[in-house]
Amino acid sequence: TTVEWEAASYDMGGHDTYMHKEIHEQADAVDRVLRGRIDERFSTVHLGGLNLDAREARRIRRVKILGCGTSYHAGMIGAQMIEELARIPADAEPASEFRYRNAVVDPDTLYVAVSQSGETYDVLAAVQELKRKGARVLGVVNVVGSAIAREADGGIYVHAGPEVCVVSTKCFTNTTVAFALLALHLGRTRDLSVRDGKRIIEGLRRLPEQITEILKQEEEIKQLAESYADARSMLFIGRVRGYPVAREASLKLKEVSYIHAEAYPASELKHGPLALIEPALPTVAIVPDDDLLEKNRAALEEIKARSGKILAVAHQHQEKADQTVIVPKNEDELDPILMGIPLQLLAYHTAKALGRDIDKPRNLAKSVTVE
Ligand code: G6P
Repeated sequence: TTVEWEAASYDMGGHDTYMHKEIHEQADAVDRVLRGRIDERFSTVHLGGLNLDAREARRIRRVKILGCGTSYHAGMIGAQMIEELARIPADAEPASEFRYRNAVVDPDTLYVAVSQSGETYDVLAAVQELKRKGARVLGVVNVVGSAIAREADGGIYVHAGPEVCVVSTKCFTNTTVAFALLALHLGRTRDLSVRDGKRIIEGLRRLPEQITEILKQEEEIKQLAESYADARSMLFIGRVRGYPVAREASLKLKEVSYIHAEAYPASELKHGPLALIEPALPTVAIVPDDDLLEKNRAALEEIKARSGKILAVAHQHQEKADQTVIVPKNEDELDPILMGIPLQLLAYHTAKALGRDIDKPRNLAKSVTVE
């Protein structure tokens, strides 16, 4: 079976790059990370490899998520989901920063190491340091049997399938779904109601179809990308749930197109970045239909008033934006899983318009296994 899996997944199947292929594999990939894990009877999920019983799960007082690059951004989304659904304080930090700052290792904290490859040296070193100090560490990993998976006390495989392109797309999406499962599981061992458990499960089930919907807009996104390809720099903004989405979209654009991009919390615009706004600096704004919609609209107005060009990724048409890419609405907590997907296509088509080496961007490696 291993051989079959490999032969099929390394075939380009008519796509010009692995990045393009992997973007289009996301509905199937999400289906896989969900498969066999939903427990209808108790409105929760079953995570076989977690090695964490209910009593232990209830003793957790904090969650600290560690990863690098795209995996760190998936961890930022995961931390918000865990806070929202399980009401456990949670945050994400780059593993590399964590391991060099002699962090306080607390026995009541659950540590979660995130890595597509399971081999990133900074993450592995952080895991080893944590284990040496007696911490409990879970892995959220794609590659089965990798170093981080072996070193962790338990974890969740994200089942994205082999990812070949240096920049991560389908594994990012699957990792955010894996975090939704973890958050739901932790929530349901605590105070998350059956009703909310059901609501999240139904939301998770809608994801594959909604991803397919988003990818159908590729032609329009391609045209947008071509119109932005001559930008020297782009600003990505989002607020709370939208902020990690902006961070990841900005990273994706930098990595494959080499256009400078910066992500900022929309709430912080007035504390600095507004000074940069002019027609030559386009803004990509993440505008979900949640309780912060009005706040986000106000930010768009601020930008428009300074003649900035705006591309919105939103659940409904945004008046102040020059263009809006519409993403199907899911449950508020799960929206971040979907909102970055059109921006993967934006990065891809921008890079393509510029003739970049999409699967192997200069100076980057798929996994950095050295110090
Ligand atoms: C490298 C890659 C990034 C990736 C990061 C973490 O820097 O270029 O795309 O996000 O490593 O990789 P991991 O395998 O640990 O998720």
